[in-house]
Amino acid sequence: MLQSVAVRSVSAMELDAVLPQLVELLRETVNAGGPSLGFIPPVSTDAGYAYWRSLRPELQNGSRVLVVAHAGERIIGTGQLEIPHWPNAPHRAELQKLVVTAALRGHGIGNVLIGALHDAARRLGRSLLILNARHGGAAERLYKRLGYREAGSRIYGRTGWGAVRLHHALPRALTNKRLRRE
Ligand SMILES: CC(C)(COP(=O)(O)OP(=O)(O)OC[C@H]1O[C@@H](n2cnc3c(N)ncnc32)[C@H](O)[C@@H]1OP(=O)(O)O)[C@@H](O)C(=O)NCCC(=O)NCCS
Repeated sequence: MLQSVAVRSVSAMELDAVLPQLVELLRETVNAGGPSLGFIPPVSTDAGYAYWRSLRPELQNGSRVLVVAHAGERIIGTGQLEIPHWPNAPHRAELQKLVVTAALRGHGIGNVLIGALHDAARRLGRSLLILNARHGGAAERLYKRLGYREAGSRIYGRTGWGAVRLHHALPRALTNKRLRRE
């Protein structure tokens, strides 16, 4: 992994400061013909700002977690957790919009972002993670290597790509006792 990469969560109040970089990250990925991430290319700058700003109420009320990976001031990746508040889903969270800047893929940053999202899920008492990933892509490989399993058959979107629904039961975090012994 790159040496100086750190991951942090972004609160509703901090959102404005990271907006321009998040907009570029989204446009770079979707407009290059990568995974649609729910959009249809080309995504305009205005549409990008509108999307990221739309997350503010959910960041405020705790129904969404947004994390960014950064190297110094530069944001090089991001990911999200949607936290449902349905009474029958207190154990569940959905991992969404995992993106690493194209030039730095394949250095373990996606892996670190997923680790940070898993930690956030555990802190919120969520043990079952679900997600959609483009079938046959780098993301599907990465998730499956981390223990995700297919939950169903393909779901097709407007772009014609099939998505695969994956799920993963998080192993419990190591206890302090076990950490001390190691
Ligand atoms: C999916 C995505 C986030 C993964 O991010 P990433 O930073 O490239 O992920 P990682 O580097 O942790 O892992 C990717 C590959 O690099 C390899 N890798 C990780 N660290 C490495 C290292 N230090 N040296 C060499 N290879 C390494 C991994 O083994 C993995 O290999 P694989 O493709 O054969 O499975 C990134 O490809 C991306 O942004 N894609 C476009 C958006 C997208 O598809 N998002 C997912 C929506 S569900």
